[in-house]
Amino acid sequence: MQFFIDTANLDQIKEAHDLGVLNGVTTNPSLMAKEGIKGKKAIEKHYKDICKIVDGDVSAEVFSTDFKSIVEEGKRLAGLHEKIIVKVPMIKEGVKAMHWFSENGIATNCTLVFSAGQAILAAKAGAKYVSPFVGRIDDTCWDGMELVGQIRHIYDIQGFETLILAASIRSSLHIVRAAELGAHVCTCPLDTIMGLLKHPLTDTGLKKFLEDAAKM
Ligand code: E4P
Repeated sequence: MQFFIDTANLDQIKEAHDLGVLNGVTTNPSLMAKEGIKGKKAIEKHYKDICKIVDGDVSAEVFSTDFKSIVEEGKRLAGLHEKIIVKVPMIKEGVKAMHWFSENGIATNCTLVFSAGQAILAAKAGAKYVSPFVGRIDDTCWDGMELVGQIRHIYDIQGFETLILAASIRSSLHIVRAAELGAHVCTCPLDTIMGLLKHPLTDTGLKKFLEDAAKM
């Protein structure tokens, strides 16, 4: 399973990259706004800065919601850097646009996916990635991870090539479950990636080893 980091924060992207486990980045308008980035030029520069750090795909989301504007915006984003994947919302105009992008050699990540039906549409439209939002489903008292497993089952029996990108990850356990269920990618906040490191027996074990090493 590939690890993407779900942030637009350059320091966090660098930290995950330096750990040696990073395969890509996902951003969205909320994450970009959180970094205080304003205006088209600043946004485009920020995407280029992210692309300089990471070896892998970088999702950049369109702000448009009609077919023509999504296509224009997506073409511009894709032209910024070869690593850019155009992130498109799961709406009717988005499906049409993802089909257009797929026919014209531009890779997409279908975002805001909350059902298996939407995931089937994303695959039919030729999206490179489909992003089920696990944490936001959990927030509504459903098991978001069930959807990841359901999509994996459907894609396998249908031979769909779209990659399942588990998104809206809220905990390190989410990452483990995404791996168990066969998600191809998991996009995670930095603290959930770092949370995978934690185990009290590692800490006490290391303490004892270091104490004994000091005796030698
Ligand atoms: C990633 O592609 C999504 O935009 C992101 O994971 C959403 O996460 P959130 O539900 O924590 O905002």
